[in-house]
Amino acid sequence: MEKTEYPVTQRRLRTGAHIRELTASVKLSHKSFIQPLFVEESLSAPRAVSGLKGVMVDTSETVLETIGKDLDAGVTKFLLFPVPAFKRDEHFDFTFAVSVVRKIRQHFGERIWIAADLCLCSYTTHGHCGILSQDHSKLLNHATVDVLANYAVQLAAAGADSIAPSDMMDGRIAAIRSRLEEAGFDQVSIMSYAAKFSSQFYGPFRDACHSAPRSNGLKNRKTYQVSPLNPNDALASALRDDREGADILMVKPASLYTDIIAKLKQQTRKPVAAYHVSGEYAAVELLAAEGLINRAEGHLEVWTALQRSGADIIISYAARQARKWIDQIEF
Ligand code: PBG
Repeated sequence: MEKTEYPVTQRRLRTGAHIRELTASVKLSHKSFIQPLFVEESLSAPRAVSGLKGVMVDTSETVLETIGKDLDAGVTKFLLFPVPAFKRDEHFDFTFAVSVVRKIRQHFGERIWIAADLCLCSYTTHGHCGILSQDHSKLLNHATVDVLANYAVQLAAAGADSIAPSDMMDGRIAAIRSRLEEAGFDQVSIMSYAAKFSSQFYGPFRDACHSAPRSNGLKNRKTYQVSPLNPNDALASALRDDREGADILMVKPASLYTDIIAKLKQQTRKPVAAYHVSGEYAAVELLAAEGLINRAEGHLEVWTALQRSGADIIISYAARQARKWIDQIEF
């Protein structure tokens, strides 16, 4: 090694805000963000969700105000979670979800892009993402896929730009794609929850959607969501969804699975979305509430990590803060 009379330093690139800004290769943009929305049929006024500061479950009226404010804050892309008033285990009624999508579309037209979550967990009495066998010992894959494909067509007809299946059944992407084509919705995309892990970090969301599994048979979602111990299964599932016709591949949770984001990005030419889920968001919020971290910088650091790993799209409960924080906070 050659000897120098001065220390070989990297620190000159860190000396001030200007040079740090200039040399930053990660550039976040609020344009890459999607804001989740919750709308509950049985509510007469919005309600807060424990752990999700800054997020409300809306009524089908107040969601229009929420979206209006979000538009002012620079958010144009949304992921909608409809929560129906009545739970049942067959003959599902999607009228509420469909009416919410239609109302939002009629109100905002092409000013917004809207993806509708596609799952049965907030519809079923047992809280599972599909139809269970009589004895509740297992999920009926094909029967569930059939119901979901039918639901997808109804959401597309109501004006959804994208369908986001989060159920994790096998074969759903191919089935949904072909039903959408048959019904003439070739322009409606599929944003697949492609590598969705069985995670503790969905807790606050399940409170928001009344969707925690509560069957005496199947106790959890481990028979259909991916094990955190099996990264190959996550990649195989995501690449399967890619082949079946998904347009966007999502990894979820996000900050705990940046290895999966990075590997998937190398193996697909499709855009990769990272969903910083409710529990991950709540962790940042709780630390900030305790004064242990700075809220905005905490989220900015997470988003940077997701983008560095290869995420093209970020789904965050703080998307509505993204433009302000990215522009104004020197991070
Ligand atoms: C429904 C669904 C879940 C999430 C999105 N869609 C929860 C689950 O699988 O139990 C989690 C989102 C979050 O925690 O923010 N299947």
